[in-house]
Amino acid sequence: MFDRPGAGERALLLHVGVQRACDPDEIAEFAALARSAGADIVAERHARVRRPNSRLLIGTGKADDLAEEIHDSGAELLLVNRPLTPSQERNLERVLKVRVLDRNGLILDIFAQRAMTFEGKIQVELAQLEHLSTRLVRGWTHLERQKGGIGLRGPGETQLESDRRMLGQRIKNLRGRLVKVERQRDLSRRGRLRGSAPTVALVGYTNAGKTTLFNRLSGASAIARDQLFATLDPSIRKLADGHRDDVLLADTVGFVRDLPHELVAAFRATLTETREARLLLHVIDASDPHHVDRRRQVEEVLEGIGAGHVPRIDVYNKADKASALSSAGYTGCNGSRRIQVSALTGEGLDALVEATREACFGATVTRRLELSPRQSRLRARLFALRAVTGERVNEAGGWTLDVEFTSRGWRQLCAQEGLLDDGLLQET
Ligand code: GTP
Repeated sequence: MFDRPGAGERALLLHVGVQRACDPDEIAEFAALARSAGADIVAERHARVRRPNSRLLIGTGKADDLAEEIHDSGAELLLVNRPLTPSQERNLERVLKVRVLDRNGLILDIFAQRAMTFEGKIQVELAQLEHLSTRLVRGWTHLERQKGGIGLRGPGETQLESDRRMLGQRIKNLRGRLVKVERQRDLSRRGRLRGSAPTVALVGYTNAGKTTLFNRLSGASAIARDQLFATLDPSIRKLADGHRDDVLLADTVGFVRDLPHELVAAFRATLTETREARLLLHVIDASDPHHVDRRRQVEEVLEGIGAGHVPRIDVYNKADKASALSSAGYTGCNGSRRIQVSALTGEGLDALVEATREACFGATVTRRLELSPRQSRLRARLFALRAVTGERVNEAGGWTLDVEFTSRGWRQLCAQEGLLDDGLLQET
């Protein structure tokens, strides 16, 4: 349905700055996005405009130069770092004789390639159709104005009208399906809430290492590629640390600056997980010289989607690559906890798991209990709760048990079994 750059498609990148040169980070990020979509970058060009030209975005002279360069480099596609209006896109295509895609179209394309679940696919198709339908509608009014009315309504326009109707029907149909899928997801989310296992969502800038960390922590083997947006659909798995209280981990799609607003709606499912999480692990690429800025951008988005109140731990990842950065360099934190890890080597992960559990359940409590032979029911209960870490028979013919609890679990047990905090039976 949507034009996409095929694998290895030869692309020329155009970075346009309005009233200023483009910032090197934006340039690097746009090139990374293009590669992520599978484009083979044959050349990059820069243009600086005082005001965007309404017809071509860039000036006519620059467009002519570009046409020549496209011809010489054999590029099949022009990728532009800024949003283009539908008519700018069409006019550029006419002048340059290659397909033109803007940043939003490129991001949509990447999402389309990565969507894995049924819901994700529907969401992306919907976003694409909506993107396309505004283009068709605007294209149609544009043509109408050009042709100027009576007697000139030819087959081209009829075709556009029926295309538009067909798109409208498809969008309606997809929305209906999406509502059903979302309802189902809602049910399973409520199911999880009933099960009361807390959800911990991994959030962060794209390429920070969320999926790699998610795989490590959950013992899973989902894909982690050095491509932006490797994760599209929220995947949920259990934290695999052999503990009896389950913690659910949710991996989410990476944030990127200026996310097209059509896509914000398409990723509500991911964002919902984030809003409802007990804890957020904000994964930050500590080896990225711009991590302070990126951290702030993610924080802003989290605020914007109503997740600002969720407690969080800042996870400074890629510690193996960031040895030169002292933890004193990690500035800009607003009281959230900081932990340094390497998802690749495993460094710091034990501390991260411990801090995660503590944030979800409170600190861990360990006790040594002396049980008499008459307390076999309590002993059985402790085993059933998987709280026992060691046992031996004691001199009284009972048992010495080493147990481990979350502080909340321990308080509950003391109240139910009439135990004092040190594990002794309360005097009655
Ligand atoms: P998106 O899906 O784009 O949001 O990315 P992500 O945050 O899920 O990142 P991902 O886990 O896909 O990792 C991106 C790249 O960073 C991959 O090439 C990983 O191998 C690499 N990476 C992740 N963690 C570490 C780490 O601790 N050290 C090093 N050196 N590389 C890492």
